[in-house]
Amino acid sequence: MNVLLINGSPHREGCTCTALNEVATALERNGVGTEILHIGNRAIHGCTACGACAENGYCIFKDDPVNRAIDLARAADGLVVGSPVYYAGPNGALCAFLDRMFFMKSRLYAYKPAAAIVSCRRGGASAAFDRLNKYFTISNMPVVSSQYWNAVHGNTPDEVRQDLEGMQIMRTLGRNMAWLLKCIDAAKDTVPYPEPEAIQRTNFIR
Ligand SMILES: Cc1cc2nc3c(=O)[nH]c(=O)nc-3n(C[C@H](O)[C@H](O)[C@H](O)COP(=O)(O)O)c2cc1C
Repeated sequence: MNVLLINGSPHREGCTCTALNEVATALERNGVGTEILHIGNRAIHGCTACGACAENGYCIFKDDPVNRAIDLARAADGLVVGSPVYYAGPNGALCAFLDRMFFMKSRLYAYKPAAAIVSCRRGGASAAFDRLNKYFTISNMPVVSSQYWNAVHGNTPDEVRQDLEGMQIMRTLGRNMAWLLKCIDAAKDTVPYPEPEAIQRTNFIR
């Protein structure tokens, strides 16, 4: 079993990474392999809604790791997305990244457990956390929770490590995800995936 963790911060080894490492360590300690993918600190193109990915499953923009993330997430058993909080939302570059990773491709990730984590100096964590969970809850992905909403506080990695409750939330999340992955694996020969219906699309609410 393997979990992909996406570091959506421009800082490879900043606060978000510190929190993700705590989740990853708990996963590893519970027998689950991990890989952390950093989205980098270069410009990430937004989705232009060209629809080309509907044809071949990949984004036409190839100068960032979105297509690599698609392949890694498709092969992984679970997904964790980490973001710094920017103006009470996820980092804009990460939203651009996830829009392109998920648009027209969410079926690739269906039934893989997922979780978001956020890192902030002071406020806006739960709004950013809610926004990230939207990617999973439109994609048939079971959302893994922890003992509190998944946030750490601090402006430096060292301050994040001093957030003892935040770090514990990360470890609990890692253990909970490992447990759910094992449950799904144990049931794979006896409990079939839900039977999907033909998709109904109505472009209005009535
Ligand atoms: C553009 C920008 C906006 C930010 N907005 C917030 C915010 O709304 N709330 C907050 O607590 N921290 C905010 N911060 C601080 C970062 O969320 C915080 O330092 C974060 O832990 C950095 O994570 P990183 O080291 O992984 O990049 C902001 C930082 C930047 C650069």
